[in-house]
Amino acid sequence: MKILVTGSSGLIGSMLVNAISDSFEISALDARTSEHAPDVPTLITDGSDYDSMSKAFEGVDGVVHLAANAPVETPWPDVLKNNISTTHNVYEAARQHGVKRVVFASSNHAVGNFEMDDPYSRIRVGDYEGLTPGGFKMIDHNVPVRPDSDYGVSKAFGEATGRYYHEHFGLEVACLRIGTVNPQNSPKDPQARPEGSVRTLATWLSHRDLTQLVTQCLTQPLGFEIFYGVSDNTWRFWDTDHAKKTIGYAPLDNGEEYR
Ligand SMILES: NC(=O)c1ccc[n+]([C@@H]2O[C@H](COP(=O)([O-])OP(=O)(O)OC[C@H]3O[C@@H](n4cnc5c(N)ncnc54)[C@H](O)[C@@H]3O)[C@@H](O)[C@H]2O)c1
Repeated sequence: MKILVTGSSGLIGSMLVNAISDSFEISALDARTSEHAPDVPTLITDGSDYDSMSKAFEGVDGVVHLAANAPVETPWPDVLKNNISTTHNVYEAARQHGVKRVVFASSNHAVGNFEMDDPYSRIRVGDYEGLTPGGFKMIDHNVPVRPDSDYGVSKAFGEATGRYYHEHFGLEVACLRIGTVNPQNSPKDPQARPEGSVRTLATWLSHRDLTQLVTQCLTQPLGFEIFYGVSDNTWRFWDTDHAKKTIGYAPLDNGEEYR
């Protein structure tokens, strides 16, 4: 299969392309090059410019759409251009070029305000009193979106647009509400605030689990789906059963081992 990866010069893109380039024929698109950029044919262009970016979609079977501003604090003008316009362009270019499938990097921030509610508000800061792992309702693919930021709103937009393109044009779409992926590939983040590190024990997605999740999304039968991108963490509060049942996701890592 020929797979286009957008955002290929970034943290996830560079790691993912290197991990899957033996399994797929990869091309890439990013607004910038970087020292970590993978050694694959890459179109350097702004994803919000439809005329220039859509050329990358020619002859492609599937797209992994990662290009965006990733920080949750991203100001609205950048969210609008790099997350919303670029994502709409990706779906439209996929449709125009007969691409079968899009895997969209959504985010846990599309439903981030659930973390204001008990028990998630306590788990995120490490207060587990009276709780047992998995002994509470998981946040799953059926909950309403509850974005916690303009960034989260942009991810909800990307999911809604994906559903629209699926239902109207038959595009196959997987939206991954990714938890926490970091360069050190560990829930121990030396740069995070202490409460951030505890949260990461619940939200961590290891590089190999991410690679497997994306690979399953590219290769298994799919309509429109929302999956949570999280490892098999003891204190996770996002559902993984749906991905396990639907596409055979089998996470190998558990953040608890790093506590
Ligand atoms: N890292 C995480 O923990 C995490 C969590 C949830 C969701 N995500 C999502 O996963 C994706 C990748 O995240 P990352 O951590 O690798 O981020 P990153 O910032 O390292 O990489 C993003 C890449 O997108 C490119 N990009 C941004 N705007 C663009 C545009 N208009 N046109 C073309 N390229 C553009 C950037 O140049 C960059 O190389 C993002 O969509 C992010 O929102 C990441």
